[in-house]
Amino acid sequence: MKTYLHGRDLIGDLDFSKEEVETVLDVAFDLKRKRALNELTPYLRDKVLAMLFFFSSTRTRGSFEAGMAHLGGHAAFIESTTTQISHGDTAAEIGEIYGRYFDGIAIRHCDWKVGNGYINEVAKYSRVPVLNMQCDIYHPFQCLADVMTIMEKKGKNLNKRKVVVSWAYANSYQKPISVPQSLVVQLPRFGCDVTLAYPPEFKLMPEITAMAEEQAKKFGTNFTVTHDMEEAFKDADVVYPKSWGALLTTEDPAEGKRIIDQYKDWITDEKKMKLTKEDCIYMHPLPADRNIEVTDAVIQGPQSVVYDQAENRMHVQEAVMALTM
Ligand code: CP
Repeated sequence: MKTYLHGRDLIGDLDFSKEEVETVLDVAFDLKRKRALNELTPYLRDKVLAMLFFFSSTRTRGSFEAGMAHLGGHAAFIESTTTQISHGDTAAEIGEIYGRYFDGIAIRHCDWKVGNGYINEVAKYSRVPVLNMQCDIYHPFQCLADVMTIMEKKGKNLNKRKVVVSWAYANSYQKPISVPQSLVVQLPRFGCDVTLAYPPEFKLMPEITAMAEEQAKKFGTNFTVTHDMEEAFKDADVVYPKSWGALLTTEDPAEGKRIIDQYKDWITDEKKMKLTKEDCIYMHPLPADRNIEVTDAVIQGPQSVVYDQAENRMHVQEAVMALTM
């Protein structure tokens, strides 16, 4: 068990080794049990986390803020639009200055080709841990919560479990590709056979696909890519269908929308769920475009674990903060 994570950043999913992720999950399960028993967990008394948001949030803000309070500390909610960033504060200055005020800096910055670079630049100049609350490339805390949820439902040994990470139709906007990218690099380390399904225009970053292949080879699992959602769903233990943008094909929102609208049949409904194993679980990080991306019958049905996923965000984040800050 690798327990010394003090001072570490978590920006990409593979920043922590498999053994370190196992420590995070072990601590998260313990924190969840303690919360159920009303046991206090003041591991970060008087410490303060800066939460810097360049993009909106329901779950991430709520779970980090509640998590810091449960640990005996405080979280400062800072929206980029109400800072001097647009007037010239650089990422280096944010790292230097906030690193002196706060005990940890958490950042959400999802702008395509900008967010991850910004978070890494802050980390370069920060003397305290920098935590990625979602960028254009990764959503590591969502992925940790997802692994925890899969383990709760399927047991801690996930060897040979078929997990389908699928694109889904949604007509709101070109959503970030960070959730599927985090999943395909992290899940093979826990023994899952990952099937990635998407229409041809929705490929992930080639370096991420290469990392997923490398992890699958290293951990002896299968990583399969298909462009057929129904084929992908067959005999799945877990389905994780969500929308993301055609960002590797076009960065133009109008062209992206035109491409997205060709695939309205990529909806998760009861008919598609019947292709999966009887005890298959349905996952989604939320927010979902209801009855467009997934039917109410599925997301509100017995196979859906979306609220457990949302809850587990808080437990894994508390675990990482307690271990790193
Ligand atoms: N899943 C997730 O990150 O939710 P929010 O965008 O509401 O934070």
